[in-house]
Amino acid sequence: MKTEIIKFKGNEIEDKKYLDKIKKTFEQGGLVVFPTETVYGLGGNGLDKEAAKKIYAAKGRPSDNPLILHIAENSQLDNLVEDIPEVAKKCMDKFWPGPLTMIFKRSKLIPDEVTGGLDTVAVREPSHNLANKILKAVNLPIAAPSANISGRPSPTKTEHVIEDLDGRVDIIVDGGKSVVGIESTVLDVTVNPPIILRPGKITLEDLQKIDSDITIDQGTIDATNKQVPKSPGQKYKHYAPRAEAICFGGGIEKMILEIQKNIDKNNEKKVAVLASTETMDKYTGADLVINLGSRDNLEEVASNLFDALRHCDEEGVDMIFAEGFEPMGLGLSIMNRLLKACSGRIIMRI
Ligand code: TXA
Ligand code: MG
Repeated sequence: MKTEIIKFKGNEIEDKKYLDKIKKTFEQGGLVVFPTETVYGLGGNGLDKEAAKKIYAAKGRPSDNPLILHIAENSQLDNLVEDIPEVAKKCMDKFWPGPLTMIFKRSKLIPDEVTGGLDTVAVREPSHNLANKILKAVNLPIAAPSANISGRPSPTKTEHVIEDLDGRVDIIVDGGKSVVGIESTVLDVTVNPPIILRPGKITLEDLQKIDSDITIDQGTIDATNKQVPKSPGQKYKHYAPRAEAICFGGGIEKMILEIQKNIDKNNEKKVAVLASTETMDKYTGADLVINLGSRDNLEEVASNLFDALRHCDEEGVDMIFAEGFEPMGLGLSIMNRLLKACSGRIIMRI
């Protein structure tokens, strides 16, 4: 299929034409990639099982890994879920629209194809201006996983989407760079206390201000955890760059020494280091040193992470050595993604 790339221009008449086209595409069961504040989403009508099947096919994703429904207003939630627990209402007040997905008991309206056959459904209300405009115009819950081929890093730029999905979707909406850069926090509110199944921009600490009993699934951060994951998505290989990637932890000085040792050991290979503003000048002999951002500004690090992984692929790197971050606050979400990119390989020198 020929994919149309749409860029909203801020011209009312033209933009209305685009919105009508997008609405029609969704209504006819087509696929539209749109930007959100976290990562780009591969959208289809969330009430149409055929659209859901198309999403799985376009991504090459196993169909037991459920999709998130995206809505424009809180009131749309009522028809999609059985009930809204009090704690979820508080989270909605505080964090919606924004990068928080919540898992609810699903209503009968939602096809099995969307939930992977589960009796729960994930819903989120994005804060991205364009996403919100589109969702309002369409007035349907839109099922949208991250707009990457399954297993690749989530797309944070239109170029990433084109790389993965050109020819596989009807429309790609170009919205520039995603600000948050890692996917939404997933919070299961069907259990009491609620539990974080995927860490994101909204941190454990943020959520504990709503309910201090909220916890996090240990499997999200502990690379050695062998428990069955609570969220289907956690069991699949993710964010895997083509290169062999290893993460390094522990104190900064020791981490730098260890990475340098590994650069030296692999001098016949093409090596990249994922570093920070504070440490990027410390390495010699690496083919590529990418500055993810300042250690004092983890928002910046998160927003650059997936782009950096894709860049390593483009450069044909053989090995990636990634600096670790303290697994607290947003640092924990960054480490969750890094460890997946490294297939759990971490070298600690404390
Ligand atoms: O930021 C985001 O959440 C992005 C943007 C596009 O909104 N979307 C996204 O979707 O990351 P996806 O499909 O790539 O990740 C959804 C995650 C998966 O790990 C999936 O297993 C989990 O949420 N999930 C969805 N429904 C679930 C459910 N009912 N129970 C448990 N986990 C669920
Ligand atoms: Mg994804």
